[in-house]
Amino acid sequence: MNEEGLVEVRSQGSACVIILRRERKLNALSTALEGALADALEQPEVGASGCVVFTGGERAFSAGADVSEMRDQDPAAILAYYRGTGGVYERVAELPQPTISAIAGYCLGGGLELALATDFRVADRSATFGLPEVGIGIVPSSGGMHRLVRMLGVARAKELVLLRDRLGADEAHSLGLVTEVVAEGAALDRSLEMADRLAGLPRTAVAVAKQAIDYMPESSREAGLALERLAYGMLAQTPDAREAARAFTEKRPKRRRGQAGSA
Ligand code: COA
Repeated sequence: MNEEGLVEVRSQGSACVIILRRERKLNALSTALEGALADALEQPEVGASGCVVFTGGERAFSAGADVSEMRDQDPAAILAYYRGTGGVYERVAELPQPTISAIAGYCLGGGLELALATDFRVADRSATFGLPEVGIGIVPSSGGMHRLVRMLGVARAKELVLLRDRLGADEAHSLGLVTEVVAEGAALDRSLEMADRLAGLPRTAVAVAKQAIDYMPESSREAGLALERLAYGMLAQTPDAREAARAFTEKRPKRRRGQAGSA
């Protein structure tokens, strides 16, 4: 737990769980909460884990940027705030291991932008998604619009930012925003199951696949194919890949050594 108790970091199995704990304000992303999240990312448990799961409370993953903090800020301060939050979410996106958002309740504005910075989103049936920014005279600007366009395309991104108020979990899933929808209260458990699977895979291969896929949308076809081949060439030399091939030809189970979470 950080000093003010705004963010809890705990190891759970092979995962590290980062919990937003400003529940009485529906995890509104105040400067202090953003700072605590940035500090949490530096904790040794995060680096040692095979998967990082971000979660909030029962009523809200997060209801977005702290509107009351914004009220008295001048445009320069608001820009600085957003640059700051964008920086934290970039660090989330750049974590080498897979990341999952376990979502219950409101997932709005900056909360959705944080969830979009993770690799997977598991939502329970209570989850409600939305980007209310334009309605209050601003725009999503912690990387969310860019990520939405990459994830869903220009037309869908415009629909979500400009036309839609709230989306339920099933609709968010059918649009491709959410990886999986689970029963109310089950998002964290399901995320931990996914984390176990991910952490059981060879760590280097997982990190390389994640990074290569993240680069693909901005790559030409030629660059993307070259990236794949280079990644393969590098991974084929790893002890994990050699052992897997040997075990297959020797018809025996493979000895596991480089799983995510191991040294
Ligand atoms: N910023 C600051 N405080 C927020 C907040 C936000 N984004 N979202 C919720 N809170 C606070 C409320 O002010 C309230 O605090 P209080 O009890 O001290 O008055 C507390 O969290 C509970 O929220 P409340 O509005 O009473 O809950 P609700 O169930 O009636 O409504 C929401 C929930 C999410 C619909 C509503 O809080 C809301 O619209 N929040 C703002 C969402 C938003 O615009 N986010 C994007 C900002 S870019």
